[in-house]
Amino acid sequence: MEAIAALPKNAQGKIDLSGSQYLHRVHFVVMSSGVETSLTVLRILGMTKTADKIIVALDVPSSNEALALVDQLRDQISFFKIGLQLYTAEGPEIVRTVLATGSKVWLDLKLYDIPNTVAGAVKSASHLGVHMLTIHLSGGSEMIRAATDARANDIVILGVTVLTSATEQTLREIGIADNVADQVLRLARLGTQAGIDGLVASPHEIKTLRGEFGDKIKIAVQGIRPSWAEPGDQKRFMTPREAIEAGADYIGIGRPITADRNPREALERILEELSLRS
Ligand code: C5P
Repeated sequence: MEAIAALPKNAQGKIDLSGSQYLHRVHFVVMSSGVETSLTVLRILGMTKTADKIIVALDVPSSNEALALVDQLRDQISFFKIGLQLYTAEGPEIVRTVLATGSKVWLDLKLYDIPNTVAGAVKSASHLGVHMLTIHLSGGSEMIRAATDARANDIVILGVTVLTSATEQTLREIGIADNVADQVLRLARLGTQAGIDGLVASPHEIKTLRGEFGDKIKIAVQGIRPSWAEPGDQKRFMTPREAIEAGADYIGIGRPITADRNPREALERILEELSLRS
């Protein structure tokens, strides 16, 4: 992310290059009417596009906790995800407040209802000003079409195929005989035919989906882990870098950042990891 700040005449700046080769912390002390405030701008060299792909999931129970995270992270990234936990606790007001910081919001409510109700919710989200919204593709083509027809204000509709928590056993329980990979592809085709803008995918599905749909769709992945937070079982996760190299447009990251003792440093470590060239 590159930030340009308009500073008053009496601003003093200090550039600290000790952090890393890629992250330059620019610390400005601003004196205004005798009051000293400070502004820290991180300039991530050559990283504008990559940093814009990172979306931090605000999976916390209250506005206070969510806004504390936004405050700590918003000079490094500009996109946050609000999901069921925070939205159910705080409602549209927290969305408005995060948007008012100049950040983008992905409203991850995974809508699944009759077409008329989903269309109404898409309209409400569009007017709220969120940038992305999720729907379940298993609602069928009529529901998906109702959602895409109701889009306004350039909202991006992402479709969820099969939840990453689901297994073949889960599909059997609900009467689906296909394996997970086939069901993902079936729903992804249904979604793209009904006009969705993108898909939420497991990192391991990126290559197949990119191969099938090319650049016509956005791909957002979640459930990924930076190398330093990776658990022993590497098969279940991908690192942010692997996901970007596989072709993800957006990477949603939650706990590796939000549950860290220092979320800001955790995000910096991820951005540094992404900037390193082999
Ligand atoms: O696990 P983490 O805290 O990084 O999750 C961030 C977001 O990714 C959560 O909001 C969750 O909805 C989503 N997620 C997912 N599939 C997983 C793990 C998490 O979609 N396997």
